[in-house]
Amino acid sequence: MVRIGVTLAESYNIKGGYSLKGEVSVGGAKNAVLKLLAASIITTGQTKIYNVPELTDVNIMLDVIEGLGAKTVYDKSEKSVVIDAASLNSVTAKYEYVSKMRASFIVLGALMARCGEAVVALPGGCAIGERRVDFHIKGLEALGAKIKIENGYVHAKASKLVGTDIYLDIPSVGATENLMLAAITADGATRIQNAAQEPEIVDLANFLNTMGADVSGAGTSEIVINGVKQSDLHPIEYTTIPDRIEAGTFMAAVVATKGKAIIRNVFPAHLTFFNDKLIKMGAHIKLLEPTAIEVSCKNRLNSINFVTQPYPGFPTDLQSMAMTLLTTASGVGIITESLYENRFMQVPDLRRMGADIHQDRNHAIVKGVKKLTGTTLRACDLRAGAGLVVAALMAEGVSEVTNLHHIDRGYEHFDEKLRALGAKIIRVSDSDNSILTSEEVIKNDSRI
Ligand code: EPU
Repeated sequence: MVRIGVTLAESYNIKGGYSLKGEVSVGGAKNAVLKLLAASIITTGQTKIYNVPELTDVNIMLDVIEGLGAKTVYDKSEKSVVIDAASLNSVTAKYEYVSKMRASFIVLGALMARCGEAVVALPGGCAIGERRVDFHIKGLEALGAKIKIENGYVHAKASKLVGTDIYLDIPSVGATENLMLAAITADGATRIQNAAQEPEIVDLANFLNTMGADVSGAGTSEIVINGVKQSDLHPIEYTTIPDRIEAGTFMAAVVATKGKAIIRNVFPAHLTFFNDKLIKMGAHIKLLEPTAIEVSCKNRLNSINFVTQPYPGFPTDLQSMAMTLLTTASGVGIITESLYENRFMQVPDLRRMGADIHQDRNHAIVKGVKKLTGTTLRACDLRAGAGLVVAALMAEGVSEVTNLHHIDRGYEHFDEKLRALGAKIIRVSDSDNSILTSEEVIKNDSRI
């Protein structure tokens, strides 16, 4: 039993206008490790995962798999988790967990592979969009599972899943992962067409193959899973890939503040599209080592247009940071958000900082202004919140970013890492939440 990163009602006080300089190391990928943790329950014995970030979402996934009867131990100093699923004694993932984190729904596929039965709460919509799970369910039915939806839960059962061809209408990350997991112990071959190609999918496939599964084609639009016996799967030790979205966020923060910094533990190939756009805006990106890049920017950025798309397109999870950069770039940039219905939640607060943004449904037209000015800002979701932190770092004056529980879901020790790069940022508890003056932020910062 472990618990990491407990979040209290807290906020960041940030004095903007300081160029970020130095080095920062990126943690393990949230959106990969959550799925690896779920996949660990398919086998019995002790699986050990390294490079596990300290995030509240990781906490929730540990709760979910412990709720199924697995035992987990998080070693904070080693950033590892040991999962022992020999004691699995339940097939039910409760709404109290799934409602906190949609990614919990991934245990559906893992439970089908391990037990041939699963009862998992339906996640429902969330702040950024409707986020349906129909492809997950249709895919499981195609594999032969009998599905009932009752009282807000998906009940799935099959004496034996049977491999088949599944075509996804949209290359959904979660559906690809859930079906990949369910199919690993199915009879025969499953072919997922129009599969998601995200690096996190490749990481899950590598994890499963190391465990004894037979998955090929991950990272392309067609994944083939040849079913193996559950008894052929074995516990493993595995290291999660670095978090490309955390890396991209630090890159945006360095560029926004006209800084120069080295980002370590990054796989540059996972950020090709984002890097290309940053370079078009006027940033400099130098590959120093296979897993280290130097990012710098001296001049005012140029505006660009972009459309968020499934990988390898522009990542929706970096859209808010790129919008922040456009707010003070020269010219006009147009953003089209094609994945989610409501992922411009940062817009009202950016406008309050002085940004000139016109939003029409999933399009945002951003006309660059000379500067943003600091104010009180509210993180409405994880990425919108991170985009506002980047805006506060480049703004004139002091900002307060509230609702940090959203940011804590996906950025480990965000303020500490930014402070190490020279940012003037402190975390204060809400009992002490009057906005600090510039001098106070700097004074408190130097005490830390
Ligand atoms: N969709 C459906 N039906 C489905 C599945 C998806 O209509 O059955 C739609 C969704 O409504 C959405 C689109 O397809 O509009 C893409 O959804 P997808 O399934 O690809 O996303 P996800 O698996 O729910 C993961 C990440 C998100 C990231 C997206 C896209 C995790 C835990 N989450 O979500 O990450 O934005 O892929 O890259 O892996 C974040 O980290 O902040 C985050 C939201």
